[in-house]
Amino acid sequence: MPTTAAREQLDGIRSTSDSIPEADSDRISEIRRDLLGRKSGRLTRLLRSLRDLEPGERKEIGAAANLLKNQVESALEAREQILSQQTASDDEVDLTMPSRKGWRGALHPVTTVVDEICEIFREIGFTRIVGPEAETEEYNFTKLNIPLDHPAADMQDSFYLAPGVVLRTHTSPMQAHTLEQYEPPIRIVVPGTVYRRDPFDPSHSPVFEQIEGLAVDEGISFVDFKAAIDFFVARFFAKGTSVRFRPSFFPFTEPSAEVDVGCPMCSGSGCSTCKQTGFMEIMGAGMVHPAVFERCGVDAEKYTGYAFGMGPHRIAMIRHGIPDIRMLFQNDMRMLSQFVD
Ligand code: PHE
Repeated sequence: MPTTAAREQLDGIRSTSDSIPEADSDRISEIRRDLLGRKSGRLTRLLRSLRDLEPGERKEIGAAANLLKNQVESALEAREQILSQQTASDDEVDLTMPSRKGWRGALHPVTTVVDEICEIFREIGFTRIVGPEAETEEYNFTKLNIPLDHPAADMQDSFYLAPGVVLRTHTSPMQAHTLEQYEPPIRIVVPGTVYRRDPFDPSHSPVFEQIEGLAVDEGISFVDFKAAIDFFVARFFAKGTSVRFRPSFFPFTEPSAEVDVGCPMCSGSGCSTCKQTGFMEIMGAGMVHPAVFERCGVDAEKYTGYAFGMGPHRIAMIRHGIPDIRMLFQNDMRMLSQFVD
């Protein structure tokens, strides 16, 4: 074989060799056969034909061909090793790998509080109903004996949807709707969302839940109210939780009261949660004001009743020791996942 032909073959073999690092496993077998095949491999044949060259050329080409053979062999081996590692990692199942977390849905802690409260009142004869979130000024204020020049009716405090129409600032308008629609005896609880132009800070939110309660019949007195609330607190809060009724004012109840329970954080000894008072407020309440009965067409001579409004967000905070109401709106899984049972 003439020397030039041998050099050309060396070049051809070298360029095939250069493609080894990119070859897939089929191509690797092909190259191995093509270059190193025992009978007709190009490199094998080249080495075999060295003896036909002139002694000077033989030495030079022989050295180059042997070097190339070593390079081809080690490149093929290196590439095969890389390919075998890749398939191994594709196929292998790592049994020690932690499994992916299977998320499970759960009720929001405020929803749970609402459901539990309504269920406790159901046991003593209260029906759960709902009402609209958009109310007229008449139902949100006037029928409840709140004059429109009362600060609560102010544009600053309420979200107006249109002149005379507000997002309800409390669930009490459902007192008026129910009194107009049904004959006593009436016993209802009304959970629902209410809206106020309040800041969004640790203890306020412009949107929150309320549960309205209303019981109207002949001969209902404040004692019936106290008994219902004692029953509720005993069922809902920890055993031995104390209850306190404080005089208060609402235009639609007379007398009016606020109800506190012993702070569950410090059991009444005083802490930062209850601002050292030992108590947490859970609702506003009172005996239905005769003016409300009159505005809703109920005979105030014949009937009496009590009403209350509680805040499930506050109650959920008290129950779980949640320091900031905003945590109940953020839907942070680190917080909510604690309520998956
Ligand atoms: N509606 C009152 C409030 O939002 C609560 C309340 C309801 C008070 C019923 C008395 C009777 O603050």
